[in-house]
Amino acid sequence: MIPAPAAGDAELLYGDVCVVTGGTDGIGKAIARGLARRGGELVIIGRDSSKGELCKRELESSTGARVTYLRGELSDRRDIDALVVKISRRWPALRFLVHSAGILAGRKAVPTIKQILIDHSFDRLLSRRGSRT
Ligand SMILES: NC(=O)c1ccc[n+]([C@@H]2O[C@H](COP(=O)([O-])OP(=O)(O)OC[C@H]3O[C@@H](n4cnc5c(N)ncnc54)[C@H](OP(=O)(O)O)[C@@H]3O)[C@@H](O)[C@H]2O)c1
Repeated sequence: MIPAPAAGDAELLYGDVCVVTGGTDGIGKAIARGLARRGGELVIIGRDSSKGELCKRELESSTGARVTYLRGELSDRRDIDALVVKISRRWPALRFLVHSAGILAGRKAVPTIKQILIDHSFDRLLSRRGSRT
């Protein structure tokens, strides 16, 4: 059974597009699930494709949301470039951009991901009223 969006204080998203880096596991997956339950369309990003595809199917069946998994290594500038191009072409107006991808995880940290995405004009994609990162 697909849970209904939480009533009351929960903001309903009506298909608004939400990108969650690290949305295939842990905290990012929990955030993705919460956004999906509120009616968002989800784009989740991680490195492990089999985990990502599994997560996409699981989130779709448990929430009824549309979910797309994109593979990317966010400590690799070329992967970031490719992701930004792909996302901006397919989803020109994002509502939420959530960064949960291994910011502090191990040696290959990605501390500059937010700045890099902003450099790549994600700020323009987020500039519509009510958009947040
Ligand atoms: N859990 C905690 O108690 C805690 C406390 C404080 C801060 N944090 C921080 O919160 C964030 C999320 O933590 P978590 O416990 O939810 O981690 P997690 O369960 O290990 O999940 C990490 C997610 O980020 C993705 N990811 C990691 N490194 C990536 C990279 N270089 N490129 C692309 N995707 C990457 C993973 O995808 P793949 O598996 O496919 O690589 C996965 O989807 C981390 O930055 C962590 O340092 C966590």
